[in-house]
Amino acid sequence: MPITDIEGVTETYLKMREKLKDVVPDFELRYKAELAFEINRLKAERGAVILGHNYMEPALFHSVPDFTGDSLELSRKAAETERDPIVFCGVRFMAETAKILNPDKTVLVPSMNAGCSLAASITAEDVRKLREQFPGVPVVTYVNTYADVKAESDICCTSGNAVAVIESLKTDRVIFLPDEYLAKNVARETGKHIIFPVHQPLARKDRQDDLEYALIGWHGKCEVHEKFSVEDIQFVRRQFPDVVVLAHPECSPEVVEAADFSGSTSAMIKYVQQTRAPRYLLLTECSMGDNVAAENPEKEMLRLCSVRCPHMNQITLEDTLNALRYNRFQVEVPEEIRVRARRAVDRMLEIGP
Ligand code: 13P
Ligand code: SF4
Repeated sequence: MPITDIEGVTETYLKMREKLKDVVPDFELRYKAELAFEINRLKAERGAVILGHNYMEPALFHSVPDFTGDSLELSRKAAETERDPIVFCGVRFMAETAKILNPDKTVLVPSMNAGCSLAASITAEDVRKLREQFPGVPVVTYVNTYADVKAESDICCTSGNAVAVIESLKTDRVIFLPDEYLAKNVARETGKHIIFPVHQPLARKDRQDDLEYALIGWHGKCEVHEKFSVEDIQFVRRQFPDVVVLAHPECSPEVVEAADFSGSTSAMIKYVQQTRAPRYLLLTECSMGDNVAAENPEKEMLRLCSVRCPHMNQITLEDTLNALRYNRFQVEVPEEIRVRARRAVDRMLEIGP
């Protein structure tokens, strides 16, 4: 469909250029402004809301979402919104969480191929087996899981509230799934030690003793954050001794320890905004580096730019437009699973911001 409102497109282009002129090439901005204009027109016509994760590519991130944020912030927005449909510009497990919270609304995800290596690392059956192995021990699952896994859990968490969720349980032992590195980072913060029973049989008495104050983990990994190494940090620090290094808690504990700050995607964004240092290294998905650079033109962002999440990368402006045009792809969660998953998500949301 040719776009005839040239003035509207120009206005969208100028707004995008103001933010993105140093980050996105001009020819790309002109093309994407047309798509963004049409998405915003259709969004208004349909009464839709668009939620955009911090990892969305810069042109999309700065043009169509009504709300941007990390997983926790977007779950809260999904719980509060009155609008329908909800278009989730993020990966599938995030859109599923929105559906869990809004069973009567249409929830659209622009690409069904937007998976996540953490969500793919564990099944509902795996969680049931762990419960049999450790009866009575509460199960915390990271929101980077599918609805059937959430349904087997007592409570969910995100990188932004994992410590608060574990502390809210007031138990010595917690099963914490499925991110090995997040579990190790959280274990250190909460003073628990960590065991991985699937690869370390617990038959021996001394191993049973290890279970006191333990986080019982799983070997899932984020295929993006596992790529960062301590050597990367050392290399950059040698070149730029004044660099401030930020690492997402899905990075290995060694990387988190070598960094100056670790937090959720939004916590990292806030940290850069509130810190006066001239340059930063963001050890996370590289589109977020572009978005932070666009918001902080006076600060230098050093990024390891080859590290783009292939799943977040599936979400494009073209597919977001098609989502609104053709009402696709609709996220569905079987009711019996949804109700149980909702309990775990609601318990998380009840724990403060
Ligand atoms: P946040 O909750 O910090 O936004 O992280 C989500 C994610 O998928 C990080 O890889
Ligand atoms: Fe999943 Fe990692 Fe991509 Fe986040 S960055 S969506 S954890 S694969």
